Amino acid sequence: MATLRVLFAAAEAAPWVKVGGLGDVAGALPKALNALEHVEVRLILPRHAALEKLDALPLFSFYLPYQEDAYEVQIFETRQAGLTLYLVDGVPVRASGPVYSSDARLDAGKYVFFSLAVLEFALRWEEWTPDVLHLNDWHTALAALAARLRRERGEARLRTVLTIHNLPFIGPAIGELLAAYHVSVPATRLPSWAEQHPLPLGLWAADVLVAVSPSYAREILTPEYGGGLEDFLRSRMGDLHGILNGLDTEAFNPATDAALAAPFSLETLSHRLENKRALLAELGLKFDPEVPLLGMVSRMDYQKGVDLAVEALRWSRELPWQAVFLGVGDGRLEAELRKMEQEFPDRVRALLRFDGALARRVYAASDLFLMPSRYEPCGLAQMIAMRYGALPLARATGGLKDTIEDGRSGFLFQEAEPLALKQALERAFALYGRPEWETMQRYAMSRDFSWSRSAQEYLNLYTRLVRQHVS
Ligand code: GLC
Repeated sequence: MATLRVLFAAAEAAPWVKVGGLGDVAGALPKALNALEHVEVRLILPRHAALEKLDALPLFSFYLPYQEDAYEVQIFETRQAGLTLYLVDGVPVRASGPVYSSDARLDAGKYVFFSLAVLEFALRWEEWTPDVLHLNDWHTALAALAARLRRERGEARLRTVLTIHNLPFIGPAIGELLAAYHVSVPATRLPSWAEQHPLPLGLWAADVLVAVSPSYAREILTPEYGGGLEDFLRSRMGDLHGILNGLDTEAFNPATDAALAAPFSLETLSHRLENKRALLAELGLKFDPEVPLLGMVSRMDYQKGVDLAVEALRWSRELPWQAVFLGVGDGRLEAELRKMEQEFPDRVRALLRFDGALARRVYAASDLFLMPSRYEPCGLAQMIAMRYGALPLARATGGLKDTIEDGRSGFLFQEAEPLALKQALERAFALYGRPEWETMQRYAMSRDFSWSRSAQEYLNLYTRLVRQHVS
């Protein structure tokens, strides 16, 4: 069997550049696929300012026609931990240093250039021609459009997969920019507003669509989650799959985690309590084994339901709990959390910063891990929490619903309302300190969230896609 070649394109990939969950996936999935047989994945990223220091060599260059002129595209290559990594450079990439800019025009310029350059590179670089181009989110979606247009002209056989990590982020309006690159958008079945944005165009053009959990794949077909694209997505239902993300179980292992006061495993679960004692001391809170510690590590966004957690805890002041919030985000929500800390100085800590090591200590110390997301395509924190013995208390949506078993590995609630969250807290508190709690903890810790299963599902998808079009 010939080796299938996949070029995997994303805006970010850990550990080289990471802003959010997309970076975790783009760092881990190519590695997990390369561990399987009959497939080779190479990764392609924009050469962001943060990547200029990587020891990469110029490989190849070409021009993308732009208005009456052209932009030069330079491709760099480097090998990183066994993975071939290509970096795309050019004027629009250098015009914007950070991975994502607060200026939509800069982002549009960078990612339209990047997407078109990825497709051209895939078609022109003869030493390694991919069979499949795997795209992720709006930043790379237009490569699917360009591939489809080329194929309709009989110029390419490349197949495209587009993974949806977060549907509402459809990208800035790029109609004029596409015209400047001499790309004309054909008639699609998209609503006309959507034809101006990269993600919907990619959803129209890609051969196969993947949502990052089976539940999210179903949810985006409904008005509540579809953001106006639900009817269109329904028309593509046959090509839409749900594949759950995995967790890097080596990077997140409570038995070997150097950030923890007391590493532990299923065999040494009693050591876990030392982590709670240590974290509370670190944060200047009193340690009481009878009082459950709630943890939340998150972007502090409305999507993540931070406001629901704050409100539900205010309504539960008669119950014994302590809570630690870690993360940055929306200014108003951050202010809300600071206010909480002032209201409950001996119970609450609002740690409004990004701190990976502290996050690990929160996972290892918390009894319950809060994730009251309004929507959650997949979510990673709940998987880390379970592996670290913190029971997730989460809204039953998207990937949370697919990874947490209510009453067995965590607690789920239905409505995005503080009252529903409060009721779930009461259910959890009723079990806290009883033998059932430890049974749940042990079950949660032994769940298998490793990447290998998801990688195999992606490989099956690529294989079917390529076969379909060969015969
Ligand atoms: C986005 C989603 C999150 C998902 C991640 C990786 O950040 O909000 O739910 O886990 O992408 O797919």
